[in-house]
Order: sequence, then structure tokens, then C-alpha cells
Amino acid sequence: MTDIQNIVILTGAGVSAESGIDTFRDGGGLWEQHRVEDVATPEAYIRDPDLVHRFYDARRAAIQTKVPNAAHDALARLDAAWKGEFLIVTQNVDDLHERAGASRLLHMHGEHLNAWCTACDNRSHWTGTLIERPPCPACGLPGYLRPDVVWFGEMPYRMEDIYRAINRADLFVSIGTSGAVYPAAGFVREARAAGAKTLELNMEPSQGSHWFDEARHGPATALVPAWVDAMLGR
Ligand code: OAD
Repeated sequence: MTDIQNIVILTGAGVSAESGIDTFRDGGGLWEQHRVEDVATPEAYIRDPDLVHRFYDARRAAIQTKVPNAAHDALARLDAAWKGEFLIVTQNVDDLHERAGASRLLHMHGEHLNAWCTACDNRSHWTGTLIERPPCPACGLPGYLRPDVVWFGEMPYRMEDIYRAINRADLFVSIGTSGAVYPAAGFVREARAAGAKTLELNMEPSQGSHWFDEARHGPATALVPAWVDAMLGR
């Protein structure tokens, strides 16, 4: 691994699963408990905002009771030690990567702990509920705060920054994601086209597993610390 300078890591729900946060598509996952069309689209929010707020208010409360696991810790350790360029692109809306200490991190699907005011476009740190339509801390208008989470049909955040990093990467690693949702599912092909080595760490082969140079399968809390130790020569 001595030829590796720049690393991009994509993470998904599987990295937080062992912290007790449900994934989306595993048996009993979130999208078996709720229909995407009911809670995770702009149309759902227009149709039944209370249902959408109840869903995200519960998720926001739940993540605050969870703690980072050994996979988050290992990635934070790599972030702190790695001298080259480094970026974790997470699809997760929890804050476990940053609570573990990662700083070179970008949330492409938004963050549970942010509220977005659609009146003034301000984003504020938010730990409480939104269903009671609280006023925006910036503009003072009530009724305009929504979860700062990217819904189906909306554009993920920071795509230019992500593609720039991928095109500079020597190594692209995908951790704990099913490869079912684009554009994230296409990053491995972008990385390959740019000449990066590609590695998958996931419980099972993802939908795009065949695109990776190498795939290791098992729980993130075992695979990720072992891989990080190898990267750091320990
Ligand atoms: P998924 O639920 O689709 O996939 C989770 C993946 O993690 C699966 O491939 C599991 O096998 C794997 N997994 C489960 N437990 C694991 C563990 N302990 N260690 C390692 N891997 C494990 O979740 P995502 O791929 O993150 O988007 O889903 C992508 C997007 O779809 C989410 O960001 C969300 C969702 O709809 C939006 O809400 C916009």
C-alpha cells in the first residue's frame, strides 16, 4: 500500500448497524417498516407533513442514544494519522463518524441533527423535535423548518467536491453500503475510471461488488479496524 496517497471512503448504514441503528434494506430494516413514498420524498412531506416529522423526530431522538463503534473509531484514527488527502463521504445521516473524531467528512444525504429552513435557507443544529413547527432560529418564521435530509428525488449534497476527491484518489473504499442507491452506487466506477484501486468492506456482496478489485465480507467492527491497522502498518 506504499503507493497510496489519496483515499476516499464511502460509508453506508452498515457502518452504524453495530451501534444499534437500523439499516434500510436488511431484514426488518427501515424500508420494511416504512414505505419510502410515505416518509422520504418531497411529495410525502407536502401530503402528510406530520407523518414525515414524526418519523424524523423519532430517528433524531434515537441516534442521540447511540454511540460510535469500533469501525467509526478506526476510520477516525486513519483520518488523524493519514498524511495524504483523505475524505469520508457518508450516506449516513447520523453523527457517529464525527463523534468518533473524524473531521475530513462530508454528509452527502444530509444530517439528522440539522434543521433546514426553507424560508431563509439557514441550517441550524437541531436536537429536538420539529412536529410542533418551531420558529427558525435565524429568520424567526414558524413552520418552515424541515429535516435536513436528502429525500428521494432530491439532489445529494456536495457532489462536485465528491467527484473532485474521487478523481484524485488512489484508493476508493466502500464500507457498509448495499450499492442500491445512486449516485453513491456509481462512485466505484468513477474511481476505477480515474485509476484508483477499489475495495469493498461489507457484510455481504453489495449489488456492485463485481466492480471492486477486492471485496472482504463480514461485520464492519472486525473488517474496518483490521484494514486500518494494515494501512497504518501496525
Ligand atoms: P442499506 O440498508 O441499503 O445497506 C446496508 C448494507 O450494510 C447492506 O449491504 C448490509 O449487508 C450491510 N451491513 C449490515 N450490517 C453490517 C455490519 N455490521 N457490517 C458491515 N456491513 C453491514 O443502506 P445504505 O447502502 O446506506 O438514503 O443505503 C443507502 C441509502 O438508501 C441511504 O443513505 C438512504 C437509503 O434510502 C436516503 O435516505 C436518501
